Parts: sequence; structure tokens; C-alpha cells
Amino acid sequence: MYAQMIKSEATQDDPEKLAAFQARIDAGEKIEPKDWMPEGYRKTLIRQIGQHAHSEIVGQLPEGNWITRAPTLERKAILLAKVQDEAGHGLYLYCAAETLGVTRDELTEMLLDGRMKYSSIFNYPTLNWADMGAVGWLVDGAAIMNQVPLQRTSFGPYSRAMIRICKEESFHQRQGYDVIRKMAEGTPEQKKMAQDALNRLWYPSLMMFGPSDKDSVHSAQSMAWKIKMNTNDELRQKFVDQTVPQAEYLGLTVPDPDLKWNEERGHYDYTDPDWSEFFDVIQGNGPCNTDRLAARNKAWDDGKWVRDGMLAHARKKAARKHAAE
Ligand code: 3HC
Repeated sequence: MYAQMIKSEATQDDPEKLAAFQARIDAGEKIEPKDWMPEGYRKTLIRQIGQHAHSEIVGQLPEGNWITRAPTLERKAILLAKVQDEAGHGLYLYCAAETLGVTRDELTEMLLDGRMKYSSIFNYPTLNWADMGAVGWLVDGAAIMNQVPLQRTSFGPYSRAMIRICKEESFHQRQGYDVIRKMAEGTPEQKKMAQDALNRLWYPSLMMFGPSDKDSVHSAQSMAWKIKMNTNDELRQKFVDQTVPQAEYLGLTVPDPDLKWNEERGHYDYTDPDWSEFFDVIQGNGPCNTDRLAARNKAWDDGKWVRDGMLAHARKKAARKHAAE
């Protein structure tokens, strides 16, 4: 189905239709699944929503790893709820993508064979309990910074999914900050663990916003279509400005010796991530890419008997209904 959609692209360049579509976007109208849309708009949404859905699902792996090792029953229950929320976010997003004519199976197959990406951040390991704090604080913090504006995105189903997701993401960020605060205010060893987690996760979190604006291939068109509401660098700067005072409050040091407040700009000046590392990670060479995809492939293969059983049941039910008519 996805391949057929791409083939029909040649019939999509009617200038009047394109202008009317852009006028709707500019007027702030929502585009709904049955409305006419340029194939580029549809493809960009499938790519972005699909990548986002995959990120929510793959993102369960580094945290799921810590559920059995959470230090108290309360922490375990909170982490379990958070990881379940991420599964729910993935499902809202797959549903939104399906309204564009791609199936969930097609999206999953594109993830599993490497045609679709998921967020770079989940290719880094979570080594100890302090990392659970840093993930909630920094990773969910970066995710919210990116996702709050997406509540106003032009595609109706995506925008509505983002409203539900953002409500839960802010709880995730707070639980992470609470974990890291406890560690930072704990014994010297615990504070050291919190600092170490910040040292390792700071730059991978900055990378979540995507490459710098000069290297972002999709930003200009996506912003014209209001699929994205801000550039990658704008959101990264907002994240730095919000997070540095939080680190100071915790008595932790952001691992950037050149970080300083710039009075004139009204923003922090900061050092960019190592972009060669970012491109390496999104090409599949991060520390955990192989493990993450192996885990998703295993889950897909192990679940085949369930999918087959459900399909056989649905077919049998349809055949019975047909025979009765
Ligand atoms: N990880 C992996 N790939 C990335 C990336 C990242 N952090 N940032 C950019 N890329 C990829 C793009 O997908 C694109 O590759 P492609 O052409 O093969 O698809 C390429 O790098 C160039 O980047 P662009 O800036 O041109 O790409 P976009 O315009 O799509 O911008 C984005 C990237 C800002 C991530 C945008 O897609 C976006 O806002 N997506 C929605 C939010 C999202 O996906 N969030 C995932 C975060 S994790 C999460 O939410 C889970 C939560 O529980 C923590």
C-alpha cells in the first residue's frame, strides 16, 4: 500500500490544489486524513510520525531494563507506569500514521529492516539507577521541549495524539528530576553517580533535537507545512536555557566548560554536540543499535503466533458472518 502511494506522486503537482492546500495551512486549519494533501506532505508525516512511534517503543528498552532493579517498591511502580505510558504513546502515534494509508505492520517492517529510524538517544546504554533519573530529567525533558509545539502541528490526528502524549510526558520528566534530585542530595557516592549520568547523557540529549539547522534536510519544508513548528537549533537552545538552572539547583555541573550566560542574546552559549558521533549513531553504529534492533526483531518474531492466531480468528468470524447473510 505504501509503495502504491509513492507511485501516485506524479499526479500530485496541480498548482491550484497546492496553493489552496498551503492557504489552509497558513490560515491555521487542521488537515484531516480524507482531505486532499500533497504526497510530499503525506510522506513527510509518515516518516516523522513513524520515527516518533518507533522511538516510543524502542525507548521502553533502556528503562524496562531497570524495572526489576528499582531500589524501592514505589520507584518500581512509578517506572513501570512510565514504561507502559511509552507503549501507549507508540500506539497513539501508529494510529495517527495509519490514517495516512500505511499499515502498522509496514511501519514495523521498515523499522526492523533499517528503512526507518528511531531516536538516536536510545542507542546509548543505561548503566545504573542514576541513569533512570537522568533519562526522565533530560531525555523526557528534551522530548517535551520538542513535542509541546507539535500539539499545534497541522495534521489533525498527529496534533490530537500529541496533546495526550504531552500530558503524560510532563509527569515523566518530573519523576526523573525527583530521582536525580534524591541522588544529588544523597551520599557523596550517590551525588557522583548523578554527575556521571549527567556527563554521559548531556550531549546525547542535545542530539535528540536533530542536526544543526544548516544540516537539517527537512526543516524548511516541514515548517512551511507546519509539520514542525520550530527549527532544531531553536528547540535545542530552549532546552539548554531551561536545563542549566535545574542542574545548578541540583549542585551538578553541565559537562561543557564553555557554557555561559550571554546577557546580550538572553540565552546560554553552549558547545554543540560532536555531530560526527550523531551521524554515526543514526547510521546504525551507536553503542546499542545492534542490541535494540535485535530486541525488536525478537519481539516481532516471537509475537508471530499471536498475530497469526488473531488473523485466523478474524477471518473465521468474517466467513461465518458471510455464510449467515
Ligand atoms: N535521531 C535519529 N534520527 C534523527 C534525529 C535523531 N535525534 N534527528 C534527526 N534525525 C534524522 C532525520 O530523521 C533525518 O533522516 P531521514 O531523512 O532519513 O528521515 C535526518 O536525521 C535529518 O534531520 P532533519 O532535521 O532534516 O529531520 P527532521 O526535520 O525530521 O527533524 C526531528 C528531526 C526534530 C527529530 C523531527 O523529526 C521531530 O520533531 N520528530 C518528532 C519528535 C520525535 O520523533 N521524538 C522522538 C524523541 S523520543 C520520545 O519521544 C520518547 C520519549 O518517551 C522520551
